Amino acid sequence: MSKSGFCPDFFMKGTSVNRLPLFPITTKTENNLLTIAGHDLSTLAEKYGTPLYLYDRATMDASATAYKSALATRYPASASVTYAGKAFLNRAVAQWTQLHNLYVDCTGEGEIGMALAGDVPHEHILVHGVNKSSTDLTTAVKHAGTIVVDNLTELERIANQYPVTNYQLPNLWLRLLPGVSVQTHHAHTQTGQHDSKFGMTGKEIMEAAQFCKEKNLPLNGIHFHQGSNFRDASPLKAAIELGLDLAAEIGFADGWRFSPGGGWGVAYHEDELPQPNADEYVRVIAESIIGGTQARRLSLPHLHLEPGRSLVARAGVAVYRVGAIKRRGEKVWILTDGGMTDNPRHAMYGARYSCLAVSNPGGENVEKVSIAGPYCESGDVVIEDLPMPKLEAGDLVAIPASGAYHLSMSSNYNGSRKPAVLLLEKGQARLIQRRETIEDLLRRDLGFE
Ligand SMILES: Cc1ncc(COP(=O)(O)O)c(C=O)c1O
Repeated sequence: MSKSGFCPDFFMKGTSVNRLPLFPITTKTENNLLTIAGHDLSTLAEKYGTPLYLYDRATMDASATAYKSALATRYPASASVTYAGKAFLNRAVAQWTQLHNLYVDCTGEGEIGMALAGDVPHEHILVHGVNKSSTDLTTAVKHAGTIVVDNLTELERIANQYPVTNYQLPNLWLRLLPGVSVQTHHAHTQTGQHDSKFGMTGKEIMEAAQFCKEKNLPLNGIHFHQGSNFRDASPLKAAIELGLDLAAEIGFADGWRFSPGGGWGVAYHEDELPQPNADEYVRVIAESIIGGTQARRLSLPHLHLEPGRSLVARAGVAVYRVGAIKRRGEKVWILTDGGMTDNPRHAMYGARYSCLAVSNPGGENVEKVSIAGPYCESGDVVIEDLPMPKLEAGDLVAIPASGAYHLSMSSNYNGSRKPAVLLLEKGQARLIQRRETIEDLLRRDLGFE
């Protein structure tokens, strides 16, 4: 690298347009401008301000359809797909889930409330949570079709607080801790390993099943989740075997429910392309369940597929405007108006991202840049050392794979206000969430007197 920082090395050869497959499926470069669903991103940024979040309806539809078609060809019994509310939930997204007949996984009463606001019917609401509060449980008993019980203490609380003699309880599934994790980029995105905080061991599952029998509780399924954003489905097989062993021991009859979870991956960076294949994920799960139930003479369960972020991550794009640019030796800081408050994933666990310049997506990469936000934290960084064309103050950058765990994990740190969100369709850009205001920040404040 020269002192100016302008010295293309081996990794910077060529342009950055090979990043397009990270973006929604309708993304194009037209006259060297980035468009999604036919909308020019710089026009949207002018109109709605930045940071701005865009969701491409066609990509959301395509991912839901890919899982449903794979299930239709690979799994001979009934099956459905669950949307992970924790990835991104609001009224519009909840409404969208029902266009595809999806179940919605809600963690606690807040997400149940959002699902209800989007008219998700109670039978499609699944309630998860590792330490559900009393109000979580009360809301779940009232509004959910299924509670996924995480531990024996929770099961006892359900039995004591909502005796079957007085309440029509939702179905109960038991969350198994399979003791097998999948390969993820960081320990914080694993959930199935033996020392995880989630779920019950096989022994605890059998105790829970016995308890349900004694108390006449409506137990009808098993769930597990092994980790997030993985692309080798093979560790699912051992966990499915364990789940089926337990189902056989419990003696589940026809119509029982099996939800082998683990969020299938998406590509966040060009090094991770091609995009993981939804059919491969479904094939491994379907074949394991079909073979495993035959071997145990167990009836085929209703399969609840839970592919996590992969339903929505690729559909979302974050658009930031560049402000100051600082060159510190080899380090080039591109300071933008978005950062860790709308996307904490790099700060939390080093998630890697890529991006394109909105007005010059096909430009030659000339230097490695790091994209950092305006907040008062050194960790307020979203991208590190990514080859990019020359950027200037006022330019826009578009960050792909921003659809999951950005806004749902966003904060108001430094008084930042959460961005506006648009749902893009051909010929229509719908504002589905307005930008927060200072009034929103103060809404809960009661003042001193
Ligand atoms: C029960 C359950 N479902 C779904 C998910 C979401 O999976 P992903 O992180 O791949 O979106 C998680 C994540 O921890 C989970 O615990």
